[in-house]
Amino acid sequence: MDGNGRWAKQRHMPRTVGHAKGSAGVRDLVKACADQGVRYLTLFAFSTENWGRPSDEVSTLMGLFIQYLEKEMKAMQAEGVRLQVLGDISAFPEELQQRIHAAQNATVHNHTITLNVAANYGGRWDIVHAVQQWAQAHPGASAQQLTEQDLAQHLSTAGMPEVDLLIRTGGESRISNFLLWQVAYAELYFCDVLWPDFDVQQLNQAFAWFAGRERRFGAVPAV
Ligand code: IPE
Ligand code: MG
Repeated sequence: MDGNGRWAKQRHMPRTVGHAKGSAGVRDLVKACADQGVRYLTLFAFSTENWGRPSDEVSTLMGLFIQYLEKEMKAMQAEGVRLQVLGDISAFPEELQQRIHAAQNATVHNHTITLNVAANYGGRWDIVHAVQQWAQAHPGASAQQLTEQDLAQHLSTAGMPEVDLLIRTGGESRISNFLLWQVAYAELYFCDVLWPDFDVQQLNQAFAWFAGRERRFGAVPAV
């Protein structure tokens, strides 16, 4: 979800206004995904690198996250949204951690769509953490025994399908430490639209593009 800061700058407003506008649009996008049969949507809300931003911006992002969990709970329940947070949340303020746990528990039986919010998340962190978790679950095991499947089962996305479509807004053509392992065969969609302007119509454009892709997963084209 890139481009909030630039969106605000273009309007001579503080970056935080861009974050607020960007977060306000999320509900409609989640609903549009659910309506179109998307079963898993992962939003990159806060990376392990974002701590390096000015402290007022970091606290605004935390505040927006808390607000989102508070305000959206009713809609998430009504629409069957299961919320999961991917990332090391132990670094977050106590209040936010509690709200995250409460929201995850409250929505655990919803199954229309799973909304993963990646927060204090990094793809490299996810992989290293998975190896550590695997080693902990298999005391005395040699690393030689570790398979791709084992590793996948200890990622934050364990049990979920791999990524089909990755959308990055804001004009950059980078992965920026998002779901590194999970995007191995994803279709990558980079668009110039800044995140606060990325609406359902934009989403549908991305889906239309995705529908035209031929996915071979390393094999030869089907005849
Ligand atoms: C949102 O966009 C990213 C986060 C949610 C942290 P940016 O804040 O990176 O916006 P730009 O790239 O400065 O425009
Ligand atoms: Mg950015």
